[in-house]
Amino acid sequence: MSANTSKIPVTIAGTGCYLPERIMTNEDLEKLVDTSDEWITNLTGIKERRICADDENTSDISTKAAENALENAGIKGADIDLIIVGTVTPDTTTPSTACYVQHNIGAKSALAFDISAACTGFLYAMELAQRMISDGHYKNALIIGAEKLSSVINWEDRNTCVLFGDGAGAAVLTAGSENTGRILATELGTDGSQTSILNIPGGGSACPIRAENVQDKLNFLSMQGREVFKHAVNAMKNSAEAVIEKAGLNADSIKLVVPHQANIRIIDAIADRLTIPNEKIFVNLHKYGNTSAAAVAIALDEAHREGKIQRGDNIILVGFGAGLTWAAIAIEW
Ligand code: UT7
Repeated sequence: MSANTSKIPVTIAGTGCYLPERIMTNEDLEKLVDTSDEWITNLTGIKERRICADDENTSDISTKAAENALENAGIKGADIDLIIVGTVTPDTTTPSTACYVQHNIGAKSALAFDISAACTGFLYAMELAQRMISDGHYKNALIIGAEKLSSVINWEDRNTCVLFGDGAGAAVLTAGSENTGRILATELGTDGSQTSILNIPGGGSACPIRAENVQDKLNFLSMQGREVFKHAVNAMKNSAEAVIEKAGLNADSIKLVVPHQANIRIIDAIADRLTIPNEKIFVNLHKYGNTSAAAVAIALDEAHREGKIQRGDNIILVGFGAGLTWAAIAIEW
């Protein structure tokens, strides 16, 4: 990964998001498991999360976020020639969620596929899309981070069920010009030695859907929270530092950092280590919990629509997830 030296700058033309209507509060969770609003608030910062309706799938919320981003960018689905969806909760193992979205938005000539990079999925998608556009082969990409995590949560496991939520975020990336903003630099990584600390053991070819596997709850997300916490702080801090240096930025020239929304204590630790003041860090996890691949995408859209990002501002996106995977991206808006 390196600073972007390509001839075609890649700019963010629009953003969008969609959150399911149903709200689940910490008080609602108190009725399901042995937990409390006080514990969840103090240890994570989360107050509530959104939950999809039973018949509302990842492709449905992806489509709504995509339509929102297309409108924001002022272009039509038919103008999109590349769709990448980052998700660990696709509608179906195959075909990809991106195929359903392609049909829904009428992007008939778009190449469409999913990537699996957990909470880092949206940022991996952004890296891929910007490389494919800057190569000159694609012009308008739609990237989406979307999850229906409620479908893989064990609602009897207090270690995980209080942390996650459903939602979708999207962005339109387009070939820019000398006068537009651009992706300045990227820094991505993977550590495959830590696959066991955060995963969904069942449902893949190693552990197919069988009655005994479902009985053992292997179809649900499993996490060693404390281990993941340590890796998250280190990986996000190191990748953010590296991308800031590559882009030639510093704490003063950065307008906003949009981090993965997993835990306010992780976000505070990173802000502290990067010596970036808290008012420059965007946080919305109190409303949505951890929405995995959707989290940075939703936060980016909210920050954009709230006017916290203006043309010419330098921003940093940074995320971390199962894999382990991590990524940081510097953007001049
Ligand atoms: O998206 C990327 C992936 N995910 C993350 O980045 C999450 C990373 N990890 C975390 O955010 C934190 O580790 C957690 C919020 C999950 C947990 O915080 P922690 O400081 O690591 O606490 P802990 O797991 O060590 O648990 C502390 C205590 C334990 O009780 P004992 O052993 O001290 O008696 C747990 O059993 O809290 C207990 N506990 C709970 N109590 C009430 C665990 N979950 C709950 C709960 N409500 N929901």
